Amino acid sequence: MDFKEALLTKTEEIEAIIKSYLPREDGFQKTILEAMNYSILAGGKRLRPMLMQETYRMFGGKGEIINPFMVAIEMIHTYSLVHDDLPAMDNDQYRRGKETTWAKFGEDMGILCGDALLNYAFETAAQAFSLPEADANTGKAFQILANKAGIYGMIGGQVVDVQAVGMPLERKRLDFIYALKTGALIEASMMVGAVLAGAEEALVERISQVALDVGLAFQIQDDILDVTSTLEVLGKPIHSDDKNEKTTYVTLEGLEKAKKDVERISRRAMESLGSLPCENPFLLELIEMLITREK
Ligand code: IPE
Ligand code: IPE
Ligand code: MG
Ligand code: MG
Ligand code: MG
Repeated sequence: MDFKEALLTKTEEIEAIIKSYLPREDGFQKTILEAMNYSILAGGKRLRPMLMQETYRMFGGKGEIINPFMVAIEMIHTYSLVHDDLPAMDNDQYRRGKETTWAKFGEDMGILCGDALLNYAFETAAQAFSLPEADANTGKAFQILANKAGIYGMIGGQVVDVQAVGMPLERKRLDFIYALKTGALIEASMMVGAVLAGAEEALVERISQVALDVGLAFQIQDDILDVTSTLEVLGKPIHSDDKNEKTTYVTLEGLEKAKKDVERISRRAMESLGSLPCENPFLLELIEMLITREK
């Protein structure tokens, strides 16, 4: 099987796992359940659950305990997008090729849907504790997930990101924003995979560094696509950063350097990953593919 076929098969497998954990759309609160399923089933590359699963496999993980965590990280990521698109934040109308959650369900439901996905993510991850495989690492993984999603992770990064609107931004603050708003959930993905597979602490630390590089390259590429892509290909509006007067890696360093740095930082991550005592060729190819991703 070549890489593209493997990617497709794995994405479909992840899609099925996600679906099996989604709430049923009934009860008086039906609207929020529909909004949650709409947002999460709208599509998306499923990169974070994939990085989690592949890191788990890289360290020899074979069980099912990873499944609730894979779903949880995609729910947290999806909630971060639902809130990121709100009028009070990036004020965007399209996401994953469809209307954004707030544009379709109203701003009130957009806020509640984000809250609901975040809470349901932890309800889902908590299911791991009642599996026979559960051990001390399950608690560690849960804590990583919570920490990287929160004030010292994604939320912290989003705070500094929105506060920087319309302001000149020095590189140090931009690096902070990228490491947290985007890097942290990618870090959580790979770290949770490693921890659940029983990787020793020093290796989890190495994985965290690799993930931060993957996250940084990923966000720089996101900035590049915001100026070079189209709504049709990207599934979300282009020039969103310009509209919001955001300083990005592209406005700060220029398009050409940004492109070079995506490649340089990704290759650094691959080299570091390749020097670990275990291997996963698919994971390396996945990181390489992200250098040239168009969506
Ligand atoms: C978008 O993430 C937000 C960023 C961190 C740049 P993705 O590009 O992974 O979005 P989906 O999940 O594929 O929609
Ligand atoms: C957001 O960065 C990252 C999140 C934590 C949601 P962006 O605001 O650039 O993400 P997009 O371009 O809207 O997906
Ligand atoms: Mg944003
Ligand atoms: Mg945005
Ligand atoms: Mg963007």
